[in-house]
Amino acid sequence: MGKVHDCIDERLRAFIAHQHVFFVATAPTGPDGRVNLSPKGIDGSFAVLDDHTVAWVDLTASGAETIAHLRDNGRITVMFCAFDGPPNVVRLHGHGRFVTLYDDGFAELVSRFPETRGARAVVVVDVERVSDSCGYGVPLMDYVGERHLLPEYMERKGAEGQAAYRRQKNRTSIDGLPAFDMDPKPSPTPL
Ligand SMILES: Cc1cc2nc3c(=O)[nH]c(=O)nc-3n(C[C@H](O)[C@H](O)[C@H](O)COP(=O)(O)O)c2cc1C
Repeated sequence: MGKVHDCIDERLRAFIAHQHVFFVATAPTGPDGRVNLSPKGIDGSFAVLDDHTVAWVDLTASGAETIAHLRDNGRITVMFCAFDGPPNVVRLHGHGRFVTLYDDGFAELVSRFPETRGARAVVVVDVERVSDSCGYGVPLMDYVGERHLLPEYMERKGAEGQAAYRRQKNRTSIDGLPAFDMDPKPSPTPL
Protein backbone atom coordinates (compact mmCIF):
# COMPACT_ATOMS: atom_id res chain seq x y z
CA MET A 1 0.00 0.00 0.00
CA GLY A 2 1.57 3.29 -1.11
CA LYS A 3 5.14 4.23 -0.25
CA VAL A 4 7.01 3.62 2.99
CA HIS A 5 9.36 6.41 4.11
CA ASP A 6 12.39 6.26 6.41
CA CYS A 7 11.11 9.06 8.58
CA ILE A 8 8.83 12.10 8.73
CA ASP A 9 10.83 14.16 6.26
CA GLU A 10 10.45 17.86 5.42
CA ARG A 11 7.82 17.21 2.74
CA LEU A 12 5.70 15.12 5.09
CA ARG A 13 6.12 17.68 7.88
CA ALA A 14 4.81 20.39 5.55
CA PHE A 15 1.88 18.20 4.53
CA ILE A 16 1.01 17.43 8.16
CA ALA A 17 1.32 21.09 9.19
CA HIS A 18 -1.22 22.01 6.51
CA GLN A 19 -3.95 19.65 7.78
CA HIS A 20 -6.71 20.82 10.11
CA VAL A 21 -7.87 17.40 11.21
CA PHE A 22 -6.31 13.99 11.80
CA PHE A 23 -7.60 10.64 12.99
CA VAL A 24 -6.28 8.38 15.75
CA ALA A 25 -7.00 4.63 15.88
CA THR A 26 -6.30 2.33 18.82
CA ALA A 27 -7.63 -0.99 20.06
CA PRO A 28 -7.61 -2.99 23.26
CA THR A 29 -5.68 -6.23 23.41
CA GLY A 30 -7.50 -9.39 22.34
CA PRO A 31 -10.17 -10.37 19.86
CA ASP A 32 -13.24 -8.83 21.48
CA GLY A 33 -12.67 -5.25 22.57
CA ARG A 34 -14.03 -2.28 20.68
CA VAL A 35 -11.70 -0.54 18.23
CA ASN A 36 -11.62 3.24 18.65
CA LEU A 37 -11.23 5.95 16.04
CA SER A 38 -11.19 9.59 17.18
CA PRO A 39 -10.98 12.78 15.15
CA LYS A 40 -8.45 15.28 16.46
CA GLY A 41 -6.93 18.45 15.24
CA ILE A 42 -7.94 21.67 16.87
CA ASP A 43 -5.41 24.09 15.36
CA GLY A 44 -2.21 24.35 17.35
CA SER A 45 -2.70 21.04 19.14
CA PHE A 46 -0.37 18.82 17.04
CA ALA A 47 3.42 18.88 16.67
CA VAL A 48 6.13 16.85 14.94
CA LEU A 49 8.80 16.67 17.67
CA ASP A 50 11.45 15.00 15.51
CA ASP A 51 11.54 12.79 12.45
CA HIS A 52 10.22 9.77 14.38
CA THR A 53 8.15 11.42 17.11
CA VAL A 54 4.83 13.29 17.09
CA ALA A 55 2.66 14.65 19.88
CA TRP A 56 -0.71 16.29 20.44
CA VAL A 57 -2.67 17.85 23.24
CA ASP A 58 -5.26 15.43 24.57
CA LEU A 59 -8.25 17.45 25.70
CA THR A 60 -10.73 16.67 28.40
CA ALA A 61 -13.70 15.31 26.45
CA SER A 62 -16.56 12.88 26.75
CA GLY A 63 -14.35 9.83 26.14
CA ALA A 64 -10.86 8.60 26.95
CA GLU A 65 -10.49 5.62 24.63
CA THR A 66 -7.06 6.55 23.33
CA ILE A 67 -5.51 6.79 26.80
CA ALA A 68 -7.17 3.51 27.87
CA HIS A 69 -5.76 1.64 24.88
CA LEU A 70 -2.33 3.21 25.25
CA ARG A 71 -2.31 1.97 28.85
CA ASP A 72 -3.32 -1.47 27.63
CA ASN A 73 -0.85 -2.01 24.80
CA GLY A 74 0.46 1.28 23.36
CA ARG A 75 -0.42 0.50 19.74
CA ILE A 76 -1.62 3.46 17.72
CA THR A 77 -2.07 4.70 14.17
CA VAL A 78 -2.41 8.36 13.22
CA MET A 79 -3.85 9.29 9.82
CA PHE A 80 -3.90 12.55 7.89
CA CYS A 81 -5.65 13.01 4.57
CA ALA A 82 -5.64 15.84 2.04
CA PHE A 83 -9.01 17.56 1.73
CA ASP A 84 -7.50 20.19 -0.56
CA GLY A 85 -4.44 20.40 -2.81
CA PRO A 86 -2.75 17.29 -4.22
CA PRO A 87 -4.31 14.02 -3.00
CA ASN A 88 -2.45 12.19 -0.25
CA VAL A 89 -3.06 10.01 2.80
CA VAL A 90 -0.32 9.72 5.43
CA ARG A 91 -0.30 7.03 8.11
CA LEU A 92 2.00 6.97 11.12
CA HIS A 93 2.08 3.60 12.88
CA GLY A 94 3.76 3.35 16.25
CA HIS A 95 3.49 3.10 19.99
CA GLY A 96 2.20 5.92 22.13
CA ARG A 97 2.47 7.10 25.71
CA PHE A 98 0.94 10.01 27.53
CA VAL A 99 2.03 12.57 30.05
CA THR A 100 -0.85 13.81 32.20
CA LEU A 101 -1.27 17.22 33.76
CA TYR A 102 -0.23 15.60 37.06
CA ASP A 103 3.08 14.23 35.72
CA ASP A 104 6.56 15.72 35.80
CA GLY A 105 7.43 17.10 32.41
CA PHE A 106 3.86 18.05 31.49
CA ALA A 107 4.42 21.82 31.78
CA GLU A 108 7.45 21.71 29.52
CA LEU A 109 5.78 19.44 26.97
CA VAL A 110 2.50 21.34 26.81
CA SER A 111 4.31 24.66 26.45
CA ARG A 112 5.13 23.67 22.87
CA PHE A 113 1.46 24.04 21.92
CA PRO A 114 -0.47 27.27 21.48
CA GLU A 115 -3.86 25.64 22.28
CA THR A 116 -3.95 23.98 25.71
CA ARG A 117 -7.35 24.85 27.19
CA GLY A 118 -8.87 21.74 28.72
CA ALA A 119 -5.68 19.69 28.34
CA ARG A 120 -5.64 16.54 30.43
CA ALA A 121 -2.49 15.07 28.83
CA VAL A 122 -0.07 15.22 25.95
CA VAL A 123 0.07 12.06 23.86
CA VAL A 124 3.53 11.27 22.44
CA VAL A 125 3.93 8.69 19.69
CA ASP A 126 7.15 6.94 18.76
CA VAL A 127 6.58 6.44 15.05
CA GLU A 128 7.81 3.10 13.73
CA ARG A 129 6.36 3.20 10.23
CA VAL A 130 5.72 6.20 7.99
CA SER A 131 3.73 5.70 4.81
CA ASP A 132 1.63 7.54 2.32
CA SER A 133 -0.83 6.47 -0.32
CA CYS A 134 -2.69 8.06 -3.20
CA GLY A 135 -5.68 9.62 -1.48
CA TYR A 136 -7.61 9.58 -4.76
CA GLY A 137 -10.82 8.60 -2.98
CA VAL A 138 -10.80 11.46 -0.46
CA PRO A 139 -13.19 14.25 -1.51
CA LEU A 140 -12.07 17.84 -1.99
CA MET A 141 -13.42 20.10 0.76
CA ASP A 142 -12.96 23.73 1.70
CA TYR A 143 -11.77 24.59 5.19
CA VAL A 144 -14.19 27.08 6.74
CA GLY A 145 -12.78 27.42 10.24
CA GLU A 146 -12.33 25.92 13.66
CA ARG A 147 -15.13 25.15 16.05
CA HIS A 148 -13.73 26.46 19.31
CA LEU A 149 -16.50 24.79 21.31
CA LEU A 150 -14.48 22.12 23.13
CA PRO A 151 -11.63 24.33 24.46
CA GLU A 152 -14.08 27.10 25.36
CA TYR A 153 -16.44 24.66 27.11
CA MET A 154 -13.57 23.29 29.18
CA GLU A 155 -12.20 26.74 29.92
CA ARG A 156 -15.58 27.76 31.35
CA LYS A 157 -15.50 24.73 33.69
CA GLY A 158 -12.17 25.74 35.23
CA ALA A 159 -9.56 23.31 36.58
CA GLU A 160 -11.75 21.78 39.31
CA GLY A 161 -14.76 21.56 37.00
CA GLN A 162 -12.67 19.70 34.42
CA ALA A 163 -11.41 17.29 37.09
CA ALA A 164 -14.99 16.63 38.23
CA TYR A 165 -16.04 16.01 34.61
CA ARG A 166 -13.14 13.57 34.09
CA ARG A 167 -13.99 11.72 37.32
CA GLN A 168 -17.47 11.24 35.95
CA LYS A 169 -16.73 10.49 32.27
CA ASN A 170 -13.06 9.59 31.71
CA ARG A 171 -12.20 6.98 34.34
CA THR A 172 -12.76 3.96 32.11
CA SER A 173 -13.05 3.12 28.43
CA ILE A 174 -16.34 1.96 26.95
CA ASP A 175 -15.07 -1.60 27.50
CA GLY A 176 -14.34 -0.85 31.17
CA LEU A 177 -10.55 -0.56 30.87
CA PRO A 178 -8.81 1.96 33.14
CA ALA A 179 -8.52 5.27 31.30
CA PHE A 180 -8.02 8.74 32.82
CA ASP A 181 -8.34 7.89 36.52
CA MET A 182 -5.54 10.13 37.79
CA ASP A 183 -7.58 12.99 39.18
CA PRO A 184 -7.24 13.21 42.96
CA LYS A 185 -10.38 12.98 45.09
CA PRO A 186 -12.03 16.38 45.52
CA SER A 187 -11.11 18.19 48.70
CA PRO A 188 -13.96 18.07 51.23
CA THR A 189 -16.06 21.23 51.39
CA PRO A 190 -15.53 23.10 54.68
CA LEU A 191 -18.45 22.99 57.12
C1 LIG B 1 -12.89 17.96 14.43
C2 LIG B 1 -12.57 17.50 15.81
C3 LIG B 1 -11.34 17.81 16.31
C4 LIG B 1 -11.00 17.39 17.58
N1 LIG B 1 -9.76 17.69 18.02
C5 LIG B 1 -9.35 17.23 19.20
C6 LIG B 1 -8.02 17.47 19.63
O1 LIG B 1 -7.24 18.11 18.96
N2 LIG B 1 -7.62 16.95 20.81
C7 LIG B 1 -8.50 16.21 21.59
O2 LIG B 1 -8.10 15.74 22.65
N3 LIG B 1 -9.76 15.99 21.21
C8 LIG B 1 -10.21 16.47 20.04
N4 LIG B 1 -11.49 16.23 19.64
C9 LIG B 1 -12.36 15.38 20.49
C10 LIG B 1 -11.99 13.94 20.21
O3 LIG B 1 -12.57 13.52 19.00
C11 LIG B 1 -12.38 12.99 21.29
O4 LIG B 1 -13.75 13.06 21.56
C12 LIG B 1 -11.66 13.22 22.61
O5 LIG B 1 -10.38 13.70 22.38
C13 LIG B 1 -11.57 11.91 23.37
O6 LIG B 1 -10.75 11.12 22.61
P1 LIG B 1 -10.41 9.62 22.93
O7 LIG B 1 -11.69 8.91 23.23
O8 LIG B 1 -9.75 9.18 21.67
O9 LIG B 1 -9.48 9.55 24.08
C14 LIG B 1 -11.90 16.66 18.38
C15 LIG B 1 -13.16 16.35 17.86
C16 LIG B 1 -13.49 16.78 16.61
C17 LIG B 1 -14.85 16.43 16.08
